[in-house]
Amino acid sequence: MTMLNVAGLSKSFGSRRAVGDVAFSVERSEVFGLLGPNGAGKSTTLSLISGLLKPEPGAVQIEGLDMALQPGKAKGKLGVVPQEPAVYKELTARQNLKFFGELNDLRGENLDRAIASVLEVVGLTDRADEKVGNYSGGMQRRLNIAIGIVHSPALVIMDEPTVGVDPQSRRHILDTVKKLRDRGTSVIYTSHYVEEVEELCDRVAIMDHGRLIALGTIADLLSEAGEYHELLITLGNQSLPEAATLLAIPGVREAFVREGSARVLTSNAEQVLPLVFTALVQSNCPVTEIKIKKPNLETLFLKLTGKALRDN
Ligand SMILES: Nc1ncnc2c1ncn2[C@@H]1O[C@H](COP(=O)(O)OP(=O)(O)O)[C@@H](O)[C@H]1O
Ligand SMILES: [Mg+2]
Repeated sequence: MTMLNVAGLSKSFGSRRAVGDVAFSVERSEVFGLLGPNGAGKSTTLSLISGLLKPEPGAVQIEGLDMALQPGKAKGKLGVVPQEPAVYKELTARQNLKFFGELNDLRGENLDRAIASVLEVVGLTDRADEKVGNYSGGMQRRLNIAIGIVHSPALVIMDEPTVGVDPQSRRHILDTVKKLRDRGTSVIYTSHYVEEVEELCDRVAIMDHGRLIALGTIADLLSEAGEYHELLITLGNQSLPEAATLLAIPGVREAFVREGSARVLTSNAEQVLPLVFTALVQSNCPVTEIKIKKPNLETLFLKLTGKALRDN
């Protein structure tokens, strides 16, 4: 069953087009990834889906309900987890959830049950009666998610939920998405982290400059990425090789050198690896580690746009 359908979604701010002609659908129990660098138009797309912004033009339907024609009913099916946590710091987590649950028409035992359940899902049961002001950034983000799902929405949209969080909270957040999917909830998971999207998502849309530049299952997209493997080489001392030295090795397609490391793209890792190793040793650049990485969504983004998803 189709949970969300968006068609021809566009939005400009003044003369700047933030989103142009975006179309996709999300099925029941599907985790759908929206991957793109900063400024790609991800948050604007989510605001259009949640009815916070009006598409100009474009249409959004949630379980067949048109956001323009029946906004109240359509919004009732949604849970929104915004990029910046929207929590009351002077209240406890439980009080926050009570407040937001009541806003969504939950009362009495139903509300208490829902609160206990989402606290468990995000791993905050033990800390539920502490003031949120004392929480770490990662815990506040987990509470932010709990608030977004307390009314059991059919579709949850999450905007970069793991940016700047500690590894433990990150793990909790990724596991929360899996639990939601297993319960039959659909999730739109927005991120610029390739590893998260590859771990969580069934299908992925890749966005750049307001447009979808690729859409498909992870397997489809990886096959589009081509045959390139990446050799990630950690160097043992200060002297760096010339990228040209690496590029001159037969079979090397791209080479990037940075402080302490070199990256080589090749379609024949086994043949190229010993040659790269020898060239580095001859250049007085001892190698401390080499990893061979399979093609990933980052490789595809690089191939489609000629640039990296992240600056670092
Ligand atoms: N309220 C706004 N007013 C003007 N420009 C905006 C506004 N919101 C977003 N933009 C612009 O739209 C583009 C897409 O932004 P955004 O959707 O936030 O991207 P992302 O979430 O992928 O980082 C950017 O160029 C951004 O500067
Ligand atoms: Mg954003």
